[in-house]
Amino acid sequence: MKIAVFASGTGSNFAAVVEAVKEGRLKNIEIALLVCDRPGALVIKRAEQESIPVFSFQPKEYPDKAAYEQLVLDKLQEQGVELIVLAGYMRLIGPTLLHSYSSRMINLHPSLLPAFTGKDAIGQALDYGVKITGITVHFVDAGMDTGPIIAQRNVEIESGETKETLSHKIQIQEHQLLPEVIGWIAEGKIKLNGRKVEMK
Ligand code: GAR
Repeated sequence: MKIAVFASGTGSNFAAVVEAVKEGRLKNIEIALLVCDRPGALVIKRAEQESIPVFSFQPKEYPDKAAYEQLVLDKLQEQGVELIVLAGYMRLIGPTLLHSYSSRMINLHPSLLPAFTGKDAIGQALDYGVKITGITVHFVDAGMDTGPIIAQRNVEIESGETKETLSHKIQIQEHQLLPEVIGWIAEGKIKLNGRKVEMK
């Protein structure tokens, strides 16, 4: 299965997927494209080091979301991408991409959805004072982190926890779960039934 990873920043989750493929934990997966909306982002260097094709763009250079998403869609189709993985892509997906990749696009989010959607979910959880937060991988729909949930993992918030320590704990979970979910999808283990996701 050919996948594209979309990322905006550091790309540690992108790297985790690359490692899982290289180590053979993720079988029959080819990372065909990295899509990045921040031309200076570290994730681009990571992709180049692995000789993974990159498409990066600057959204503000386009008249609207539909214009740059059409360009992204062309690249995805050129590469024969079957699954889109949003791994730290900090932008809402518009109808142009959703229409072509509905049920074939997943997102990683650093909270136990539906709590703490949008930006800085880790900071939101700390400020709220919850004792347990976590991570979610879900299918993407038109809303902000609202699509059907595929898998979640808990992370405990201990006393004295800082954004830095919590982010580290969250990332350890993310780096395991994201490749795992991609593997389940590639093996045809995931069935979407309305809002419910079932494991075969
Ligand atoms: C990850 O923690 C991911 O869950 C989060 O961005 C981080 C990217 O880290 N995504 C969101 O907040 C999406 N709303 P990375 O660039 O090191 O993979």
